[in-house]
Amino acid sequence: MATPLKVCVTGAAGQIAYSLLYQIGHGDVFGKEQPLILTLLDITPMMNALHGVVMELHDCAMTLVKEIVPTDSEEEAFRDIDVAFLVGSMPRREGMLRKDLLTANAKIFRSQGLSLDKFAKKTVKVVVVGNPANTNAMICSHFAPSIPKENFTALTRLDHNRAKAQIATRIGVRSDAVKNVVIWGNHSSTQFPDVSHATVEVEGKTLPVYEAVKDDAWIEGDFITTVQGRGAAVLKARKLSSAMSASKAVCDHVRDWWFGAPQDEWVSMAVMSDGSYGMPEGVVYSFPVRVSADCKWAIVKDLPISDFAREKMEKTAKELEEEKKTALEFLASNSS
Ligand code: NAD
Ligand code: LMR
Repeated sequence: MATPLKVCVTGAAGQIAYSLLYQIGHGDVFGKEQPLILTLLDITPMMNALHGVVMELHDCAMTLVKEIVPTDSEEEAFRDIDVAFLVGSMPRREGMLRKDLLTANAKIFRSQGLSLDKFAKKTVKVVVVGNPANTNAMICSHFAPSIPKENFTALTRLDHNRAKAQIATRIGVRSDAVKNVVIWGNHSSTQFPDVSHATVEVEGKTLPVYEAVKDDAWIEGDFITTVQGRGAAVLKARKLSSAMSASKAVCDHVRDWWFGAPQDEWVSMAVMSDGSYGMPEGVVYSFPVRVSADCKWAIVKDLPISDFAREKMEKTAKELEEEKKTALEFLASNSS
């Protein structure tokens, strides 16, 4: 059998981790042949609850999970890890924007960036889920200079899946018939869900989504606002933020990063911007990416961008630049 992969999940006593850990342990992310060592990080007051999660993981009797290490120590959680799922942080409550969490969560991601830099493998792959996810990923990478920037990503796959599901429902097809939607920018209400490059298979024919939907006003109006506001709508209804759909999206994100995404379809991932499409460098911006089987992602280049799209892409970029400035200024004046 293969050497175990060492995988860390933070926020391991929280609600996303409660779904995520089963899916990882079951082989839905790294495959059904890959043994795993799971390190589970949470804060000290959550250690009792985390102990309960560990008991349940044992009781799942999963064959791939060789060892489970619950801990409140970043050093123990991150030592020699191959993959980090950074979920742990404060979720928003009703009425808050995700960026309202910026200062509450920035220190967590500085501390975890510093610890990843010290203790994790230099090849570690990091997905940041805790909000505001893009800026937290930027912070983490900033404080982990010895790890390549391309190893830090943030989750916009949930928005990508939401966009696919909205289009599929509207046309009355399966969600996997919809390909090549894009989420541009921030995992926030300024994100731009774009279907101008997307196609859908209807009765054996591949059509542009615009042609199949036949309602441009909906695509450029309610569709966009529904996807942008979906997290808030779930939060309003559940009084808790999304967890089942979030953990499914995290699994999709990391599985595609690990094994490569199907070559006839790109996925949306928030990655360190290299200035593609004129978006600012140095912020973690969601782009369409293709992922090859050697775990390398590449931004899809040269898609034609309309004036309508460009205005929206720039608006979400501006928000990310502002978040970056606020976060780094806050951290500079709060050194511990
Ligand atoms: P939760 O409150 O149920 O769980 C969060 C857990 O993180 C708690 O157990 C908490 O003790 C722990 N935690 C806090 N500080 C920590 C630290 N320094 N180290 C380790 N663990 C720590 O929240 P949840 O519903 O699981 O959501 C977690 C985060 O994910 C929130 O920020 C939420 O907004 C975000 N989220 C992001 C997306 C996305 O698409 N990017 C989707 C859903 C939720
Ligand atoms: C989501 O999109 O569901 C999460 O980011 C949680 C939230 O606060 O919206």
